[in-house]
Amino acid sequence: MAGESDTNPFRYGALALDDAFTDRAREIKELTADALSGQDVVLFAPRRYGKSSLMWRVSQELVKRRALVAEVNLMTTPTITRLAEKLARAIHDDIASRLFRAKERLSVFQGLRVRPVVTVDPDDGSLSFSFDAARRPEDVVATLERLLELPGRLAGERKRPVALVFDEFQEVVDIDPQLPRLMRSVFQEQPEVAHVYLGSKRHMMHRIFNDANEPFWRSAKQVELGVIDTGPFGEYIERQFERTGRTIERPAVDAVLAHTHGHPYATQELCYFLWQRTAAGEVAVAADVRLALGSVLNSEHAHFSLVWDDASSHQRLLLRALADEPGHPLSSDYRRRQGLPSASSMQRALQALEQAELIGRDRGRAWISEPFLAEWIEANDA
Ligand SMILES: Nc1ncnc2c1ncn2[C@@H]1O[C@H](COP(=O)(O)OP(=O)(O)OP(=O)(O)O)[C@@H](O)[C@H]1O
Ligand SMILES: [Mg+2]
Repeated sequence: MAGESDTNPFRYGALALDDAFTDRAREIKELTADALSGQDVVLFAPRRYGKSSLMWRVSQELVKRRALVAEVNLMTTPTITRLAEKLARAIHDDIASRLFRAKERLSVFQGLRVRPVVTVDPDDGSLSFSFDAARRPEDVVATLERLLELPGRLAGERKRPVALVFDEFQEVVDIDPQLPRLMRSVFQEQPEVAHVYLGSKRHMMHRIFNDANEPFWRSAKQVELGVIDTGPFGEYIERQFERTGRTIERPAVDAVLAHTHGHPYATQELCYFLWQRTAAGEVAVAADVRLALGSVLNSEHAHFSLVWDDASSHQRLLLRALADEPGHPLSSDYRRRQGLPSASSMQRALQALEQAELIGRDRGRAWISEPFLAEWIEANDA
């Protein structure tokens, strides 16, 4: 018998860990096998599809198999110095700590051109690393280069598999235009290290890996992460209701998935509000999904208002049309039906909206990909 619980089992925003994580069995298996064999992988997906959560699960699998996994998020490393600092910390926490006793760990940083200043957090004993900002840039670059080599060297000495993971990798070009070349030259010498690159902003990631002039050109196996299959996602939703002492009717599950199409974040968000409306012992029905959707739109109102304010008048026309009818906005039929201006102006609007990751496009067909934005536009008669 499932117990009752007042804790909402649906989560959106943070990493989906443990209980919050579902499915992706095939991807976990594939990425784990790739990493164990030292295969470099680039994992593409639109925002909030679950890249980081998936990689977290894969890291757990890898660690179970004695692999060492160090991860750095490039979103939080705006400069080469910050990147070196975060990387030093990841190497310390995720690699050195698993190979050496406490006293010996810091010795892995011997021989760096710039020695890190190590600070201990008195609350939890965790270490952070900083490199003197006044140092000459070439010294910091040389230090970063050594740090990039370090995971491979440490793992190699111990004959352990190792993966080096970069989340939000599309930021690499903004940190320093020379950085991709530097990273690539180090990584090329380390066939046994699995480098895993996660990223959104599809056009950017595609350029980094598919442009023959870019250092990372065809350097990694490309894996594209899709939405979660509605079959397993539906069962997951039912289980989460059940284990917290509630029930959800099948038509309600279908209504949720009809709105979200298995988009991981969107599905969790809609279910969060649906669960919130369902008292212990009660049943969520399809009509409740409408009301839950209203709550989602309320809670996202500030965000969507900003998106709308940022859009040009042509972009708004196009968004309004796509909210009403996904289709081929460059065709004269579509433009006539929706009262849209010239194909060339729509072409520019499409490009801008695609870059902003608000719409998706496939062989000329376009649709709004930002979850709930179409519903918001309709509801606000924007
Ligand atoms: N496997 C999963 N099962 C259930 N929900 C998931 C899963 N993966 C992701 N989610 C939902 O999607 C949300 C976003 O996940 P995550 O942060 O991993 O995505 P991301 O692609 O890394 O996003 P971003 O582009 O913002 O970095 C989570 O908070 C969770 O609600
Ligand atoms: Mg992420």
